[in-house]
Amino acid sequence: MINIAIIIGSTRPNRVGASVADWVYEQARKRDSGKYELIDLIDYELPLLDEPHPPSMGKYTKDHTKRWSEKIKFFDGFIFVSPEYNHSTSGALKNALDFLYSEWNNKAAGIVAYGGVGGIRAVEQLRLITAELQMATIRNQMAFTLREDFEDYSKFNPREHHKKVATQFLDQLEAWTRTMRSMRGEGSS
Ligand SMILES: Cc1cc2nc3c(=O)[nH]c(=O)nc-3n(C[C@H](O)[C@H](O)[C@H](O)COP(=O)(O)O)c2cc1C
Repeated sequence: MINIAIIIGSTRPNRVGASVADWVYEQARKRDSGKYELIDLIDYELPLLDEPHPPSMGKYTKDHTKRWSEKIKFFDGFIFVSPEYNHSTSGALKNALDFLYSEWNNKAAGIVAYGGVGGIRAVEQLRLITAELQMATIRNQMAFTLREDFEDYSKFNPREHHKKVATQFLDQLEAWTRTMRSMRGEGSS
């Protein structure tokens, strides 16, 4: 069974990101083709990157980094649920990505974003960042717009067609996740 983490990319009080991630998790957990888990960055209390060595060396010195590493290395694939802040992803998610290296390598990822125009500029930035981490991001993406998928720009209420988009997104992510796992030599079931 493949294991896929759904990472909530906003840590802001009043964030809408947790309700978006909950909805994605609801779509994903109905499937028997993969195991999904929600990860809230708040629970990992990562400060701004404070490791003395580049993460690619894997010489972690801080307990919070070791804990984050242990968690992330378990997963075969990822869904990043990202807000759009100033045409990019959140600083919190970028920082959490920066903390590690090999734990992300040769794994598949899908991006779910939201914002004024569906968070699409955050998606594009995340594609560049994750490429450097040697991740394979799927083409399918999910884009929720603040005006049409949220009541009063705050209460998440996605339009109906997003369920079909979610199915296609998860189908592709699971296929790529399996392929990357077999490439890593960890079996392809
Ligand atoms: C610091 C900051 C910058 C933002 N920049 C953008 C932006 O560039 N484009 C956009 O569409 N929305 C932008 N927004 C609006 C956010 O997409 C919106 O507030 C969203 O709810 C943020 O996600 P969160 O509530 O999960 O943190 C910005 C919001 C914040 C807090």
